[in-house]
Amino acid sequence: MEFGVLMIKTIIRSFGFSVPDRVVTNHDLEKMMDTSDEWIQQRCGIKERRWITPGKETTLSLAAEASRDALKKANLKPDDIDAIIFGCLVSDHIFPGTGCLLQEALGFSKTIPALDIRNQCSAFLYSLSIADAWIRSGVYRRVLIVGSEIHSTSLDKTTRGRDVSVLFGDGAGACIVEAGTDKNQGIIEVQIASEGKYADKLRVAKPSSNDDPRIKFEPEFNPHLFPSMDGKYVFKHAVERMTQSLTEICKKNNITANDIDFVIAHQANARINSMVLQQLGIPETKTHNTLQKYGNTTAATIPITMSEAVDLGKINRGNLVALVAFGSGFTWGSALLRF
Ligand code: UT7
Repeated sequence: MEFGVLMIKTIIRSFGFSVPDRVVTNHDLEKMMDTSDEWIQQRCGIKERRWITPGKETTLSLAAEASRDALKKANLKPDDIDAIIFGCLVSDHIFPGTGCLLQEALGFSKTIPALDIRNQCSAFLYSLSIADAWIRSGVYRRVLIVGSEIHSTSLDKTTRGRDVSVLFGDGAGACIVEAGTDKNQGIIEVQIASEGKYADKLRVAKPSSNDDPRIKFEPEFNPHLFPSMDGKYVFKHAVERMTQSLTEICKKNNITANDIDFVIAHQANARINSMVLQQLGIPETKTHNTLQKYGNTTAATIPITMSEAVDLGKINRGNLVALVAFGSGFTWGSALLRF
């Protein structure tokens, strides 16, 4: 969309986030399963994560708090928002999507669209891609993107599930994007992709719409009800795809690794992020990680980490920022933007 000679772009207005108060350290996990602080820190870089207190926080309440934080930082009211895009892996209900519940919880005096998307760890980049297309084509002027996740209630917290359960945490991140023409700010490009042949490498298989009845009492432990992951396989693909995606998006936009001021990568494993940066020749000083404190919060990791990096003054207006993520599906993506 153009006004005169000015091209409308998607500008990042603000970020916000919210995590539950309850801190669960690696030592707390040692009491639940055969694991160790040393193993978890060495293999993935996580020291602690936040888990909800059941009955206190929900996917919706975390989402609403993160959204209010983003609205406050942008000095906006809910009615200033034209559309919501909501990403989450485990919703409050099977349906309706939590995006609609968020529209109600934030207290809009108008009806607006709420789009729920299910792209796991890549949800923020998928959301950004949709919001960017809406804004540049003039469909909506200002979009609230939210990723909110509660993993703690659906993990197998015994030794049987330790390869997955030590990794994930609860939390929500939000971002407000809007139409603008400032030449020093805005999204340059968002690239997203999927490869469904690897769906069984990281998933929760049940309950499924193919089951009749969908949920039944099962006296035996059913592993399909819990997340399963081929960790080494996912790790290898994450490094390859994240490196490839960033390399391609930079090449297409004539940007070199040296030009990039800051990288925010999905927070699954500190070793994955180090390898990606190393392959691109970007120093660790140009990134910020939150997984040591919050673990992997899937759809929420990028907005949480961006929010914290901005609050800490590590990312400033006009900086060239690269985002990159990889997750279940497999899905992945990257983005380049001037903050
Ligand atoms: O967000 C979506 C994307 N997700 C990811 O990117 C995750 C990708 N994968 C990973 O980050 C890593 O594969 C893990 C951190 C999950 C695992 O690290 P790893 O170096 O690949 O370990 P492993 O699965 O090969 O397991 C090594 C050993 C095994 O024992 P043996 O067979 O060598 O005796 C596991 O049983 O570590 C054992 N192990 C554990 N030990 C203590 C697995 N989980 C744990 C644990 N605590 N929590």
